[in-house]
Amino acid sequence: MSRPESGPLVAASFADDDAYYQRLKRALAGRSLPMMLLDLDRLEANAHAMLLRAGRLPIRLGTKSIRCIEVLRRVMALSPQFQGLLCFSAREADWLAREGFDDLLIAYPTIDPLELSHAADALRRGSRLTLTVDSIEQCTLLAAQARAHGVRFRLSLDLDMSSSVPGLWFGVRRSPIRDAAAALEVANFIKANADTLQLVGLMGYEGQIAGLQDRVPGGGARNLMVRVLKRRSLREIHARRQAVVDALENAGFALEFVNGGGTGSLEDTAADRSVTEAAAGSGLYAPGLFDYFGHFRHQAAVFFALPVVRRPAPGIVTCTGGGYIGSGPAGADRLPRPFLPAGMKLLDLEGAGEVQTPLSLPPGLNPALGDPLFFRHAKAGELAERFERVLLLRGEQIVGDVPTYRGQHQSFF
Ligand SMILES: Cc1ncc(COP(=O)(O)O)c(C=O)c1O
Repeated sequence: MSRPESGPLVAASFADDDAYYQRLKRALAGRSLPMMLLDLDRLEANAHAMLLRAGRLPIRLGTKSIRCIEVLRRVMALSPQFQGLLCFSAREADWLAREGFDDLLIAYPTIDPLELSHAADALRRGSRLTLTVDSIEQCTLLAAQARAHGVRFRLSLDLDMSSSVPGLWFGVRRSPIRDAAAALEVANFIKANADTLQLVGLMGYEGQIAGLQDRVPGGGARNLMVRVLKRRSLREIHARRQAVVDALENAGFALEFVNGGGTGSLEDTAADRSVTEAAAGSGLYAPGLFDYFGHFRHQAAVFFALPVVRRPAPGIVTCTGGGYIGSGPAGADRLPRPFLPAGMKLLDLEGAGEVQTPLSLPPGLNPALGDPLFFRHAKAGELAERFERVLLLRGEQIVGDVPTYRGQHQSFF
């Protein structure tokens, strides 16, 4: 993927940018920096836009893309169309259940005995918690743990939703289950172990549609290729997901849910009639890697503010902190984006640094020592691993200061 442009993506003009910058700056006056900031008005606008895009489907909130209980609560309270959580660890799901959440789907397999003891605890307390599996090998381990804990694990099968064209794997490497026969094999094993295991759902996450931008500035032919591949892949994977659902149902498995999608695919996922719910989270914060999809744009809602601490040369200032790099294939698109004031750039030789970040400034910009400069993370939830608290902005004012997962001493891996 070619390098995306840094800079403002929401505000329509420099005047808007400047007004928003001044608003953020006033709101932070007198606060110790660096700080993480969430604009509640933008968060809510994004939530409603995502619900519209999802159409007939409820949205299960992806916790990894949020990592703050207060935000999970606020978003869930916005609409009954937000239903359940897509968690990333069983220990996390157990903690969230104790915090009052229910309908917890742990979307990635675990075989760790400690993790599974947390799942068992939550089930014993009556939570609707579901684990993900994709092999008989995992199910064998889970059956033994379920027996040891005296519970029956609720399971969801993970269906691989990648496409392959000659010479290219278009998708993510997740599950070995790629067709109805493979799904039935694992499902039948679960049925044969019905004292300890129960199949309740299917998940097919089409990462190559949901997470891959297709209008990257300067992307040229690559954008076109991604769009063509997406169209082709969609036809194939919808048929695959439908075929697997039909096969399971014909074999007598009653699925409570069929989960699909993510922020970038909500409309397409809703078009697959076999799907009963979408999973999504990133669109709420709208981080850098979601700026360049052709069919939607959510509003950048989460920022971090770094203070200017020195001026190494004319036109360059250095801020405290900032090296918050997104996960995934290492590249320029994983770097934080300088956001406001508009026109700031990271230096090629230093990027976002471990404990300080230099920036080149556009002509005419001359921030004072201590002034906040605003950045956006490439990904959604990962920024919350860097900050213990997040300030909540409403209009002109900070109306809350709430802990992230990290601030509650909850770090899962
Ligand atoms: C299983 C699963 N579903 C859905 C998503 C989409 O989440 P988001 O909307 O935060 O991109 C992801 C993201 O990686 C995922 O792993």
